[in-house]
Amino acid sequence: MRRFATVTKESLNEKHRHRPCRRRLLQASGCTACHTIDKKLVGPALKDVAAKYRDNKGAEADLIKKVKEGGKGVWGDIPMSPNAHVKDEDIKTIVQWILTLK
Ligand code: HEC
Repeated sequence: MRRFATVTKESLNEKHRHRPCRRRLLQASGCTACHTIDKKLVGPALKDVAAKYRDNKGAEADLIKKVKEGGKGVWGDIPMSPNAHVKDEDIKTIVQWILTLK
């Protein structure tokens, strides 16, 4: 019984704390109007973004700036509008998380 309880608690922490929380932040920040994790919508699939920048050490800072200020030309001609309403720390959290997607 005790062991069962421990395992359950750990798996809850793993599954329910990390990923869905970031997804909620993504939604609350308005990103999901244009992005999903694994399908191209208005903007690129976030998994594709992660794959593109996987070995790029400067990517985190560049992407934070891009999300904040908007921009175009990397994935096509459709621009991403600036997301200035999103807090800097939230953008950072989201970008760090995006870069871990596989
Ligand atoms: C109005 C639609 C829209 C919204 C809202 C939006 N994006 Fe984007 N996003 C785009 C488009 C379009 C691109 C592709 C831009 C390009 O080709 O350079 C993009 C590109 C990106 C990229 C890759 C940038 C690059 O230079 O490779 C990241 C990361 C990203 N978005 C994250 C976010 C996050 C995080 C949010 C929420 C805070 C968000 N986006 C909100 C449309 C949007």
